[in-house]
Amino acid sequence: MNPVDIIIKKRDGGELTREELAYFVRGVVDGAIPDYQIAAWLMAVYFRGMTDQETTDLTLAMAASGEQLDLHDVLPGAIIVDKHSSGGVGDKTTLAVGPIAAACGLPVGKMSGRGLSFSGGTIDKLESIHGWRGELSEAHFRRQLQEIGLVIAAQTANLAPADKILYALRDVTGTVPSLPLIAASIMSKKLAAGADAIVLDVKCGRGAFMETLDDARALARQMVAIGRLAGRKVTALITQMEQPLGLAVGNALEVQEAIATLHGRGPADFQELVETVASEMLLIAGGDNLAAARTQVSEVIADGRAFAKFRDFVAAQGGDPVLVEHPDRLPAAPIQRPVPASKDGYIHAIDAREVGLTVVDLGGGRLKKSDAIDPSVGVMLALKVGAAVKAGEILCTVHAASEAAATQAVARLQAAYTIDPAPARPLPILLDRIVEAS
Ligand code: URA
Repeated sequence: MNPVDIIIKKRDGGELTREELAYFVRGVVDGAIPDYQIAAWLMAVYFRGMTDQETTDLTLAMAASGEQLDLHDVLPGAIIVDKHSSGGVGDKTTLAVGPIAAACGLPVGKMSGRGLSFSGGTIDKLESIHGWRGELSEAHFRRQLQEIGLVIAAQTANLAPADKILYALRDVTGTVPSLPLIAASIMSKKLAAGADAIVLDVKCGRGAFMETLDDARALARQMVAIGRLAGRKVTALITQMEQPLGLAVGNALEVQEAIATLHGRGPADFQELVETVASEMLLIAGGDNLAAARTQVSEVIADGRAFAKFRDFVAAQGGDPVLVEHPDRLPAAPIQRPVPASKDGYIHAIDAREVGLTVVDLGGGRLKKSDAIDPSVGVMLALKVGAAVKAGEILCTVHAASEAAATQAVARLQAAYTIDPAPARPLPILLDRIVEAS
């Protein structure tokens, strides 16, 4: 076998075998295949696509390219369930879903990422709780999973290292938006993290990677197919990311909103999404039906078990539990500036990507992996799509570190809202649910 033959086969539309893909991925990781050949192969995949079987074989080879977690020794007999969001603006879902699922008795041991560009990251959000840390030893990860039933750790460098190399090259060769490559990238990390069953939250809209419903469905179907061929159960939800999720965008603000949601007092769209994802996790782990799962979810929220689980989880990872009890003491920005509506009408759109990028510019996100984050800054929406508004009424509030940053953000946010005279409908949160490839 040699890399040139594999590139030519894909270039000419052939179907690569499991052995060829395993050979290629091995060469990517051990450096035997140079970047220019990897780049040529990525472009061939971009244009020719892959069959479900090829995508699955690629995914499994990528998952096997580094460390692979097996949590069954600490959780004998348990079905290990993971959730994954394809990322979006205001997406603090894991912060609320993790404790709810764990409070229902489902162990959640999760690897999460940091934010990049307009999309935030779970680890950055949790780090706004003083003392909390996501860099854990494997022994700590396992012990906490057993004792608390909930652990969220920063992704280790050695999990699916092939993906790191391929992703970096895709980024600079125009081959990121390839369905098989995205699906293999996401699923290889989930499989390496030891999941038996996965609930995927595929975001769709301006604030997401997949902007159209057709693209989101195609990605969801591909990932469900990989799961089936790899012997894992996968449910994919396609959810709204045309406007920001919930009301809070920004690290500490999002932690506050997640805590409110654990008390059952989250914004309607976010509360609904969180309860839906948690219910799907219970169902995929062997629950009777969605209605029963939903009842269980409502119970642990109502009786405070979900909140208590979050507090215990934060404390177990070094965070100050007083901040969880009193989220108003989380880092707060010195300047809070309202953004008024420029005219009467109805809100037709809130450009989620623009809101996310505004928060990055306020200091709440990063454009390079090495950038530092200000946990206190962000945007609190007051009105969302479908709301009627009068000129001068507050659309949202900017939380900024300086007057100059606030002034810039106000202008951008005003432009991110589309207000028209005709009535507008609120946007549904759940767009589709895919459990079997079709
Ligand atoms: N998220 C990933 O992990 N990989 C991709 O390729 C796209 C989104």
